[in-house]
Amino acid sequence: MNLAATHPPTSSFPVFAGSNLNAWQQTGLLAIPGGKGPLEHFRQDSLADPIVYAEFTSDLPQPRFGKRWRKAQAAEAQFWRTWRQNTLYKHISLEAFWQEVVEKTGGALPTGKVLDVGCGPVSVLNFCRPEDMQPFGVDPLAEVYARENLIECSEGLSPMPIAGLSAEKLPFVDGALDHVICFNVLDHVSDAPAVLSEIRRVLKPGGSLRVYVHTFTSWIKRFLFFDTPHTYHWDHEEFKHLLGDAGFQVDHELKEPKTFDLPESLLGKLTHFPYWVATKVAYTSYFRLRRD
Ligand SMILES: C[S@@+](CC[C@H](N)C(=O)[O-])C[C@H]1O[C@@H](n2cnc3c(N)ncnc32)[C@H](O)[C@@H]1O
Repeated sequence: MNLAATHPPTSSFPVFAGSNLNAWQQTGLLAIPGGKGPLEHFRQDSLADPIVYAEFTSDLPQPRFGKRWRKAQAAEAQFWRTWRQNTLYKHISLEAFWQEVVEKTGGALPTGKVLDVGCGPVSVLNFCRPEDMQPFGVDPLAEVYARENLIECSEGLSPMPIAGLSAEKLPFVDGALDHVICFNVLDHVSDAPAVLSEIRRVLKPGGSLRVYVHTFTSWIKRFLFFDTPHTYHWDHEEFKHLLGDAGFQVDHELKEPKTFDLPESLLGKLTHFPYWVATKVAYTSYFRLRRD
């Protein structure tokens, strides 16, 4: 089986799927973007239990992904390869972290069909998931995460199916999903308005979107060109306008100064200087939104 990564996916999408892939297929919700119908051509090969490798091809035109995004994705993959060695994250409890994010984005997660856009290797849905939720994830680095064993999941939960796709085109029919989650992703994508428009398309009317991104004090943004992993830098209000322009109503919002557990010593502060600066100029902006 050829596991060569295709980043971004062009005409051949690598797709990972977990144990409930069949259930998803039976709902008829999965579609090739453009409404060409359900994914009948899913090919599955066992890659590593319980993750299953599948692939489908599409001759539809794909979104453009520039150099800037590719560079950001390379940095992103490298971050996840080593994040557990970083003293700031070494001892993090993902259960506790995600519970806090869930609270800050408006309380308990909804049930139903839920998509985590840009789910990464440690998705909130791998740790906090109501029993009657049907989870699904998309992430263009899915193959890297699975192949390099970077996916973490709470004991007793099965990993959700993850499709190796970019969210500028989502493989769902219109109005397929009850809710969408997009944590720490929109400032990493190639085309944020396109991603928001796709999320709106695949959500049912009345469905919700939970989002968080890192935002900045306005004046610092022009100095952030060296910040390779991020393709966008917004301030809170700018980001909120983007959400409104995409057709979402704000139900809940929270803007919090960024914090890190920085070392006390001067040496520790010096070696973590960029993180110290971030506590002065960066925020986390949390939203729960509704699609009309
Ligand atoms: C900072 S990580 C966040 C991962 C996860 N949501 C979390 O909070 O741990 C950003 C993720 O966005 C993904 N990403 C980047 N561009 C994307 C796109 N166009 N569509 C969907 N996901 C994308 C990256 O591959 C990466 O896994």
